[in-house]
Amino acid sequence: QTFYLKDYTPFGFDVESVELTFKLAPTATRVLSRIRFIPQENAASSDFFLHGEELELISAAIDGTPVQVEEVDGGLNCAVPSTPFLWEAEVEINPKGNTALEGLYMSNGMYCTQCEAEGFRKITYYPDRPDVMSTFKVRIEGPEKVLLSNGNPTASGEGWAEWHDPWPKPAYLFALVAGDLINHPDHFTTKSGKDVDLNIWVRPGDEGKCAFGMEALKKSMTWDEEVYGREYDLDIFNIVAVDDFNMGAMENKGLNVFNSSCVLASPETSTDANFERIEAIIAHEYFHNWTGNRITCRDWFQLCLKEGLTVYRDAQFTADMRSEPVKRIEDVIALRARQFPEDQGPLSHPPRPEEFQEINNFYTATVYEKGAEVIGMLKRLVGDADYYKALDLYFDRHDGQACTIEDWLSVFEDATGRDMAQFKRWYSQAGTPKLKVSDNFDAGTYTLTFEQSTAPTPGQDIKDPRVIPIAVGLLNDKGDEIQPTRVLEMTQATQSFAFDGLAAKPVPSILREFSAPVILERDTTNTERTFLFAHDTDPFNRWEAGNALAKETRLAMITAGEAPDSAYLDALIKLVRDDTLDPAFRALVLQAPGQSDLAQTLHARGQVPDPQKIYDASETFTQTLAQALSDSLPRLYAATTVDGPYSPDAEGAGKRALNARILSLLTRLDAGEQAQRQFETADNMTLQYAALACLLKADKGADASASFFDQWQEDRLVMDKWFALQISCAEPEAAARIAKELTTHPLFTLKNPNRFRAVMGALSGHHAGFHQISGAGYTLLADNLIALDALNPQTTARMCAAFQSWPRYDTARQELIKGELQRIATTKGLSRDTNEMVTRILNA
Ligand code: ARG
Ligand code: ZN
Repeated sequence: QTFYLKDYTPFGFDVESVELTFKLAPTATRVLSRIRFIPQENAASSDFFLHGEELELISAAIDGTPVQVEEVDGGLNCAVPSTPFLWEAEVEINPKGNTALEGLYMSNGMYCTQCEAEGFRKITYYPDRPDVMSTFKVRIEGPEKVLLSNGNPTASGEGWAEWHDPWPKPAYLFALVAGDLINHPDHFTTKSGKDVDLNIWVRPGDEGKCAFGMEALKKSMTWDEEVYGREYDLDIFNIVAVDDFNMGAMENKGLNVFNSSCVLASPETSTDANFERIEAIIAHEYFHNWTGNRITCRDWFQLCLKEGLTVYRDAQFTADMRSEPVKRIEDVIALRARQFPEDQGPLSHPPRPEEFQEINNFYTATVYEKGAEVIGMLKRLVGDADYYKALDLYFDRHDGQACTIEDWLSVFEDATGRDMAQFKRWYSQAGTPKLKVSDNFDAGTYTLTFEQSTAPTPGQDIKDPRVIPIAVGLLNDKGDEIQPTRVLEMTQATQSFAFDGLAAKPVPSILREFSAPVILERDTTNTERTFLFAHDTDPFNRWEAGNALAKETRLAMITAGEAPDSAYLDALIKLVRDDTLDPAFRALVLQAPGQSDLAQTLHARGQVPDPQKIYDASETFTQTLAQALSDSLPRLYAATTVDGPYSPDAEGAGKRALNARILSLLTRLDAGEQAQRQFETADNMTLQYAALACLLKADKGADASASFFDQWQEDRLVMDKWFALQISCAEPEAAARIAKELTTHPLFTLKNPNRFRAVMGALSGHHAGFHQISGAGYTLLADNLIALDALNPQTTARMCAAFQSWPRYDTARQELIKGELQRIATTKGLSRDTNEMVTRILNA
């Protein structure tokens, strides 16, 4: 069954209030519901259909009288009065048997819920759609020490607790947690003086890993008050860490549930990257309280309304807490690695899709990250002042409502007087636009001409020109900025922009800060790139010039058998040795371009990528760099030492990021001596992990890996790292074999999504390893997807995306992948989630 945006019809009833009672039992939980419905006066439809899945109906009554219902696929129908009535039902569910981790389920002996997008229907019969909002009262009965739900606690006693959430919300924001948990308490006073209890709830043993998350929460609360004027609105804010979770975290009203990997942190067990991610996700879920909860989505087609905006907000937060250019570069690397392949392959869809079979398949990089890019463009086009004016109007006008992208854009039109009709195409058109640039200098005038085009995507052949904000600066031949950043607003298919009064032809710095998610194409030279790499005053574009050089030199090695570009090597070495530059920036400059990204570029240039050749070129380049930099490596390595106790702040993290890059170069020359020393003496996971990675990569990691295992085998999150690292550091021909061995390890399990992703994600992320011509990687992934689908469709379906880039490769690999996809597609009883993904990928 396919659902379409154009078919939207409101539900014909308002829900005045919801009261739920849970009688918890692992395999037979009873859920009693009392729901007051009010038929709407001018309802388009008076059909009373309630969603429900995997529920055993015990009884149903209207206004106290038992009623007959018609149970159908996905829910029930019932004849109801035309005046307000009370619906009461009792159902039985089996949390322990719930391996899909959607609805009410058990993880390590605790009860927890995941209702977004459509999990509430696995808890009780309900109009499970985001535009139906109501207040909830919840009573939980069970022997667990801690019984939590949304809103404020109202009463409790031995074996029971009651909660009331006064803010109307859709069912997807419902949550319940019960378990013998321990809390890390704190509190926060809002700027209007309201005192809020804060808690992070964890399993015994994890209480030492909460402090960082708590600080991140308080910083987020302050930041949202200061930057967006948004205050928290309940007496209590609870976060719970859960080991088995399909996604990162969930913004349930007043009761955020987190994948433990996205909240638990300690210096000994978490890397700097983990800390940064945890801080961002805590912020993300907290920010949803306004962008998602107080203002929610009318239907799931509008998902990017809350996700794009909230990702944008958490990126602003991270930029403010840490380094703005570093965050921007990291985000663009991630966008190109995850969103661009989606946008340019068979799964391509617009940030606001118009059809789906399974909404869980649309929690994508396009909805989230491109959705955030669209907000960034909007802000750049209207300017900061008008952006915040529009946001104030959005919160004012739509508080308590379930909204659409049209509502969102209207707010910008009304606050700024701009027409947003053309800009809206960013929401409806799929595909990454290409932006071709040419330039001309004549009599003091420098002209840039841009041409935009977007290739057809599935179901969308014709693309109209979009509004593209292009941030441009100009440099003279000495590297001075003679034209500070100016935003060109492109609206036509082809458009020129002139800069007057110039003494000589300038060097352009185009698409500064990556001002639009496009692919820039320009006939330029490595000489000019090297110039920008040395002089650009925009840090993003300075990095970008280096990144382009890093890619071009590898591509020339692959396609023309050339040696690494020596001018680039010289420039790179100079920059890396420059101690006046931020170590985090230098680390990013040393980060090799993604091999999948290189494959995509080759494909775009009409060539068939050979994953092994791409790997070899990368290796050769790094080896050459290590040798060329050898004299400086000991000094550079020593300079990355951070004095004092470990702290995950941006400054220390930047130095350690550079440490990892320098150590990996050093390891190529000293046979792992320094890495072994660092592994043995490290007092934090960042340094230990970096050293282990270097040793494994050098094939000198057997002892270190064994001792790492001994040290950390009781820690699930560290073991995820151990599983992943052995695959990602393997030689290409060994990756699938090692991954396969790891799937037989006693600590491997299909039941824990983090562990599954650690192994299968590392395999599919190892470009040359996954794409070995033997096909072993493909077969192993397909075997495991088939096995997991029977337990957990959501995580299975997401992982299918590993196959999305198949059309780029040679026919032999294409046939192998298609064979595996067909094998998955024809599996008996395949889930709707996985079926939709596999079908879309095959239809490339
Ligand atoms: N709204 C959550 C977030 O972005 C993601 C939850 C998605 N869950 C799912 N099963 N699709 O923070
Ligand atoms: Zn979100």
